[in-house]
Amino acid sequence: MYTPYPEYMMESIKKVEATRKERMSTEPRRLTADEKDALLKEFHPDYKEEAFEEIKVGPNKGQKANKELVHLLHSNSRLLTDKVDLDKVDYDVDVLVIGGGGAGSSAAIEAHEAGANVMIVTKLRIGDANTMMAEGGIQAADKENDSPVQHYLDAFGGGHFAAKPELVKRLVMEAPDAIKWLNDLGVEFDKEESGRMITTHGGGTSRKRMHAAKDYSGAEIMRTLRDEVLNRQIPVVEFTSAVELIKDDKGQAAGAVLLNMETGDYLVAKAKTVIIATGGAGRMHYQGFPTSNHYGATADGLVLGYRAGAQLLYQDSIQYHPTGAIYPSQILGALVTEKVRSVGAQLVNAEGEAYIHPLETRDVNASGVIRECKEGRGVEVPGGEQGVWLDTPMIEILGGEGTIEKRIPAMFRMYMNYGIDMRKVPILIYPTLHYQNGGLEIGGEGFTKAIDNLLVAGEAVGGIHGRNRLMGNSLLDIIVFGRNAGKAAAAKAKDVELGTMNLDHIETYAEELKNAGVASGDVSPLLLPKYARHER
Ligand code: FUM
Repeated sequence: MYTPYPEYMMESIKKVEATRKERMSTEPRRLTADEKDALLKEFHPDYKEEAFEEIKVGPNKGQKANKELVHLLHSNSRLLTDKVDLDKVDYDVDVLVIGGGGAGSSAAIEAHEAGANVMIVTKLRIGDANTMMAEGGIQAADKENDSPVQHYLDAFGGGHFAAKPELVKRLVMEAPDAIKWLNDLGVEFDKEESGRMITTHGGGTSRKRMHAAKDYSGAEIMRTLRDEVLNRQIPVVEFTSAVELIKDDKGQAAGAVLLNMETGDYLVAKAKTVIIATGGAGRMHYQGFPTSNHYGATADGLVLGYRAGAQLLYQDSIQYHPTGAIYPSQILGALVTEKVRSVGAQLVNAEGEAYIHPLETRDVNASGVIRECKEGRGVEVPGGEQGVWLDTPMIEILGGEGTIEKRIPAMFRMYMNYGIDMRKVPILIYPTLHYQNGGLEIGGEGFTKAIDNLLVAGEAVGGIHGRNRLMGNSLLDIIVFGRNAGKAAAAKAKDVELGTMNLDHIETYAEELKNAGVASGDVSPLLLPKYARHER
């Protein structure tokens, strides 16, 4: 049989094959709470002290974050030097949604439904977002053996009891309706012949509540939301970034300054309410990690909100997905969905040992992979890094021939592109930067505390998942909190009287940076990854 694996990898695969029979009947035991804590403290990147720095200005002054994020928070606005005339208003709306992913689109749809004049601005195109990249599924306790309470316990425990209870409560209580809403909009969820939804386990779930569209769940959801936005003729301003929030003389959010990414022109969007839905930060490559994230994931919303005075929560907590591709190098960091483990694949080291249960929570499984590699039980790839095996042939051994093509066709295709038939040989994985657990702090309705009329939805929010998120709760939160933000923003816009617009906060922030002696000399938000080709 042809495989693109070099001889020494095939030697290790023989050891993996040798333990399969035993692994068919016995799976590794679950770790105790103390064992998990010890593993996390020793191997999880969030505990690597030298990777963090103290934030010296703003509402979270004195707290830490990954150095790369602190650098952005210690950078100045483009508009300190590039001047913009706020009297020349290019767009005037009730609700301005910054971000064209799942949260932004859901918010815009609900704001439109409520009769608001709503507009989306997005630095790439609508749908160019982490939502599109999501694979495994979306959680909701909508079956008879499950309940939102059970979902709450899983999510709250999985997040180390650090999530804000009012946010988790909303997440789980509104989950069944989120699935119904998506289904009614046209999302093609996997169903049995009877029409009943197929659901599976994810890491840390006590019930099978993961609803999926094979292993392109996010793409299917984003396709549907984008169609809905376009069918409603909601204005979408593409290739245009929000580079600064505008406030008014009462301190309320009053819109944003936008940058046309193609012409370099600035535009002024005046709005009675503003929703930040800018997504994640994978392209910051914290601690040098590759990422499963979309090209635009550069923490922009965190910078916009923070500089204007909004508080961050758990900005030091990042999710490294245990199974990113590490071989072949062409797909380094690409997501190998957790669903691969949900349908039977096992994590196995170079010696063929299933060293951990495959469906521990993500932070625990990621730490386990890092430990195996650091302690020399990984498989070396060209370049010298190590990964461990994800034993995918076990899927067909346990679930029957054809399971891989039926349940995870995108994974099958991704590996077949490189001649790796995952039905027959295992694949090599290592953690990849997947999700920012922290972000801007909101209350239950989606509003920030510090800035009136400013809302946040989706991955830019901190506090929904605590310090670790379970699989499928992100596709869920973009729908639940996106929809709520859209409704709340539309309702609030009816009562808002805007005063005179200004950008005073950027001068104040620059002064603080100067006084603290930490101005980086760069500008933020970053907008595109460091390695982007800049023509201007
Ligand atoms: O593994 C995955 O499919 C990722 C899902 C998620 O982040 O929720």
